[in-house]
Amino acid sequence: MHFAAIGRVPGDPILGLIDAYNQDRNPNKFDLGVGVYKDANGLTPILQSVKQAEQRLVDQQLTKSYIGGHGDSRFGELISELVLGADSPLLKAKRAGASQTPGGTGALRLAADFIAHCLPGRGIWLSDPTWPIHETIFASAGVKISHYPYVGSDNTLNVEAMLQTLEQAPIGDVVLLHACCHNPTGFDLSQDDWLKVLEVVRRRELLPLIDFAYQGFGDGLEEDAWSTRLFTAQLPEVLITSSCSKNFGLYRERVGALIVCAGDAEKLTDVRSQLANLARNLWSNPPDHGAAVVATILGDAQLKAQWADEVHAMRNRIAQLRSGLVEALAPFGLAEHFAHINLQRGMFSYTGLNAEQVQVLREKHSVYMVGSGRANIAGVDGTRLDALAKAIAQVCTR
Ligand code: LMR
Repeated sequence: MHFAAIGRVPGDPILGLIDAYNQDRNPNKFDLGVGVYKDANGLTPILQSVKQAEQRLVDQQLTKSYIGGHGDSRFGELISELVLGADSPLLKAKRAGASQTPGGTGALRLAADFIAHCLPGRGIWLSDPTWPIHETIFASAGVKISHYPYVGSDNTLNVEAMLQTLEQAPIGDVVLLHACCHNPTGFDLSQDDWLKVLEVVRRRELLPLIDFAYQGFGDGLEEDAWSTRLFTAQLPEVLITSSCSKNFGLYRERVGALIVCAGDAEKLTDVRSQLANLARNLWSNPPDHGAAVVATILGDAQLKAQWADEVHAMRNRIAQLRSGLVEALAPFGLAEHFAHINLQRGMFSYTGLNAEQVQVLREKHSVYMVGSGRANIAGVDGTRLDALAKAIAQVCTR
């Protein structure tokens, strides 16, 4: 038999939680697993701006023909402006360009193949910890992975250790940085920290790959782009992976982009020719619908303003859930112990709960979170914060 030697691998540590949660019959269960935003009704809504854009597309779109290796050029321009700033000198000088990809994950995979094929021998440095799929994507592409310390076992950010390690990185290696809303920890670098990282990157001639999956979920659409714009203004070459899954709520439509910033327009064209070639072997043409929705929204002042308001509302709700959860933990004497939840940004919190506590939370209280202790705060039911706090308190005092 051909398949006789094939064994079984464990399910994905994050997506596997969707099934486990759905199968749980407990009506009082909590879904803090996969990074998906839920509103006050426990739904992951389709944004109103998205609904309107989709209606326009249904009425006006003329073809479903192939879209080309880099996707829709209008989408590429608009997403580049969102990330780099509408008046970015890079865009004026034609030094930056976006390739449309199936989600941020697709952008990462394209970047990984680009490094493996076009920058042979360069390793990549990932934060410890990082999103587990960063590890597997670069490993699959055959890129050597190393780690820089980020958040230690005391659940605090250790910038000094990060800088010291990067100071030892081989000249020319790639360093993956999370623009904002660090996944899984929620701990972000301060502006001061970013300036220090920039200096090391410059000294070691590292190529930054900035993963920007949560624009608008930290401090604001423009504010969250600060680090990316700093790096692209100060360095000649930068790679950026952008995702529209969360901020447009287009998770299943798979919309993202790999934005390349190169030294000049000629070099950008060279690099983009390689990306089109690599994408042809991965997915040929990227899926269109989600990117068409994003382009419709970003290309229309009224829809764009409406969308920005919707992102603002999602961000505010997450901030309220963070402070609400810490308040709910106060009667158990745990407000200080979990004060970091208020300092973290974006969807996720590295709670500091260990693997055993996470398991008990799941088995005894139907609270689902990733084994690392990562909780998706954006999935918390705000009307049941007391019950969640009680369950957390019980595993903390066991
Ligand atoms: C997450 O980390 O939960 C999200 O980015 C979803 C995913 O693809 O893992």
